[in-house]
Amino acid sequence: MPDGDPHHVAIIMDGNGRWALRRGLPRTVGHEAGAKAAEELLRFIARETGIRVVSLYAFSTENWARPAAEVRFLMELLRRFIAKRIDELAQEGIRLRVCGDLAGLPEDLRETIEDTVKRTAEHRKLVVNVALNYGGRAEIVRACRELATSVADRGTAIAELTEERFAETLDTSGLPDPDLVIRTGEERRLSNFMLWQVAYAELYFTDVLWPDFGPEDLRAALEDFRSRERRFGALSQGGE
Ligand code: FPP
Repeated sequence: MPDGDPHHVAIIMDGNGRWALRRGLPRTVGHEAGAKAAEELLRFIARETGIRVVSLYAFSTENWARPAAEVRFLMELLRRFIAKRIDELAQEGIRLRVCGDLAGLPEDLRETIEDTVKRTAEHRKLVVNVALNYGGRAEIVRACRELATSVADRGTAIAELTEERFAETLDTSGLPDPDLVIRTGEERRLSNFMLWQVAYAELYFTDVLWPDFGPEDLRAALEDFRSRERRFGALSQGGE
């Protein structure tokens, strides 16, 4: 297993729509191709890399603003992705986790998620954390509400509200912070993804559209990651 690989990689999978439109195809075809790319990449990650956690930004709180037919298509695609592709990947030792406000999702998708999360809970090879109806700010507000409730109703002392306690209250509780964020598809922004968790992550942007992002592109991102010196606010070894 290659040394120096990041422990946790968070991926903003952008560019499905443009991939399809540039081929004269409907956007939904791009999403299907994106799901296939995700499955192939997860299989590669599980087999060939030292990565232990992958977070995938699948549906943001802002994505509800898309046309209703596209939202419906994405919800059904995500349900199928989890029921079928994650199910197959489970044989590779993959464990499913999710983050985001699941209460806002269609019931059949929620049930599929709950079932798969339970069934894969003991798997240890790779955690696949899918962000659904997810927004970093919304997640932070949810955590604040939970902590405020704990102070008001359960007598939690203000002094107990530490960074560690806050992190444990987020959806990603128990997962290490991402070491590397990859965004495909030409834009260079975080779009409300894991705002708290990416505080010290390395950022990697590529113009490759998500359906075209394959193992070779990931290798390039990992190579770039290895070349970076991570200081977490401290001085470098030479004191510079
Ligand atoms: C971005 O492309 C992609 C999405 C909003 C949906 C992501 C969903 C998948 C890749 C399906 C597979 C699911 C998982 C969990 C791997 P876009 O529509 O924003 O593209 P555009 O910016 O070119 O319009």
